[in-house]
Amino acid sequence: MALWGARFTEQPADAVFALSRSVGFDWRLAPYDLRSSLAHLAVLEKSSLISKEDSVKIREALKELIDEVASQKFLPIEEDEDVHSALERGLTSKLGLLGGALRAGRSRNDQVTTDLRLFAIDHMLSLATLLTELTEIILKKASQYVDDPAPGFTHIQHAQPISFGHEIAKHAHAFTRDVTRINDWYQRASVSPLGAGALSGSSLPLDPEFTATNLGFVKTFENSIDAVSDRDYVAEALFIISLIGIHLSRIGEEWTLLGSTEFSWAKIADQYSTGSSIMPQKKNPDMAELARGKSARLIGNLMSVLAMLKGLPFAYNRDLQEDKEPLFDSLDTLFLVIPAVSGMIATTEFDREKMKLSAPTGFSLATEIADYLVRKNVPFSQAHEAAGACVAMCEKLDIELHQLSDEQFSSIHLSLDSSIREVLTVQGAIASRTTAGGTAPTEVKKQIAAALKKTLLQRTEIANKSKAFSEMMRS
Ligand code: ARG
Repeated sequence: MALWGARFTEQPADAVFALSRSVGFDWRLAPYDLRSSLAHLAVLEKSSLISKEDSVKIREALKELIDEVASQKFLPIEEDEDVHSALERGLTSKLGLLGGALRAGRSRNDQVTTDLRLFAIDHMLSLATLLTELTEIILKKASQYVDDPAPGFTHIQHAQPISFGHEIAKHAHAFTRDVTRINDWYQRASVSPLGAGALSGSSLPLDPEFTATNLGFVKTFENSIDAVSDRDYVAEALFIISLIGIHLSRIGEEWTLLGSTEFSWAKIADQYSTGSSIMPQKKNPDMAELARGKSARLIGNLMSVLAMLKGLPFAYNRDLQEDKEPLFDSLDTLFLVIPAVSGMIATTEFDREKMKLSAPTGFSLATEIADYLVRKNVPFSQAHEAAGACVAMCEKLDIELHQLSDEQFSSIHLSLDSSIREVLTVQGAIASRTTAGGTAPTEVKKQIAAALKKTLLQRTEIANKSKAFSEMMRS
C-alpha cells in the first residue's frame, strides 16, 4: 500500500518500486514500529487530536496486529513498500479510514529511526548478555590453568614464562570492555526522535518528552533535523560489533595455532571440530577459523555505513535506508559466532605437560638473569648485555641457560655467582611476577576473581535494562 501518490498522475515504474522496496529486510522492525505507534497514539489522544473513542479502537487494532505479526498471521505482501506501509495496510483493513489517523504529526523519517533505535537497543542488550556469558566461560577455563606454566610469547617467539591461566584470562578483559562500550553506547543511543516529523518538528501539540518516556528512552531529541538524519548510533554499534569480532578473531587465531600439529597444546572437542571430505584423519578447527573469518564482514558493514553517511547533506535522504541491512547482518553474525566460540572454549583442553616442558625453552628465562643483576645493583643496560651474552654462549654450545656452568656464568659477569640458579626456574620466574595484574599465580587468582565480580555486576546491569525494555515492549 502506497503512503504517497496523490500528487502524481502516473504510477511509479516497476524498477522504481523494485529499488525502493525495503520490506524484504525492514519487516523485522515491525514489533518496534507497532510499539512506537502505540506511543504516538497516546500522545495524539492526550492532545485531543484523536478522540478517546477512536483511540480505543486504534489501540485494540494495534494490539491485534502485534499478536498477528508475532504469530506470522499478518505478513507483508508484494504491494507493500516498507514495514510502515505494510502495517498501515493492516490497520486500515481493520479500521477503514481511521487506520490512517496515526500519520498525523509523524513522518516515516522520524518513525523509521525510532524503530531502528529500539531494534538496536534490544539487540545490543542481548549481545551484551551473550558477552557476559562468554566472559564467564573464559574466566572459568582460565582458573583451571592458573598453576600451569607455559611459554609466553611476543612476536610468536618465546618471551617469558607465564601462567597459562593468565594467558586465557586476557581475552575476558577485552569482552568486559566491550560490554562497558555497549553500556556507554546505550546512553547515547537511547534518544527518541519521535516528534521530529519529516525534519522540522510539528505544528500539532505533540509532546516528544511524553513519547520518549513512554518508549523508555533516556532522553528526547534536541534538534529535529539532526533527529531524522543522525545515524551515529548505527555507526557506533557497528564499530563496537567490529571490535567484538576482532576480539573473537584473535581467539580464533590462537586456538587454530595452538591446536596445530606443531603446537598440539589445544585439544578442541570433537563437538566443536569439523572433518574433511577427502582426508579421513582430519579434525579441523573450523569454528575458530569462522570466528576469525566472520570479523571481515563486520568490518565491511561498518565501512558501508560510514561510507553511506559520508557527505550526506540535510536531514533525511533515501541513502539512509541503507543503514539497516549492515546492522542486521552484523548482529546476526555475532549471534551465530558467540555461542559457537563459547562452546569451543568451554570444551577445549590444553596439554599441561607439553606447555610446561616448552616453558623454559627458547631462552625464555633470560630476563630473569637481567633482573637478578639489577637486584645486585648492576645498571639495566649492563645487565641486559650480560644476559644476552649468556644466550649467545648457549646458542654456540647448543645448550639451555641452566646448563651453563658456574665458571661460564662468572666469565660473563662477576656478579653472576651460583645463586643465579635460584631464579633460573620457570616456577620461580612466574611466582616472582607479583605486581598487580602480573603472571604470578597469586595475582592471576586475584585478577580472575575481580574480573568475575565485574562481569556479575555487568550482567545485573544489563539484565535490569533488558527487563525494563521488554516490559516497555509489552506495555
Ligand atoms: N524505508 C525508508 C527508510 O528505511 C523509510 C523512510 C522513507 N522516507 C522517505 N522520505 N522516503 O529509510
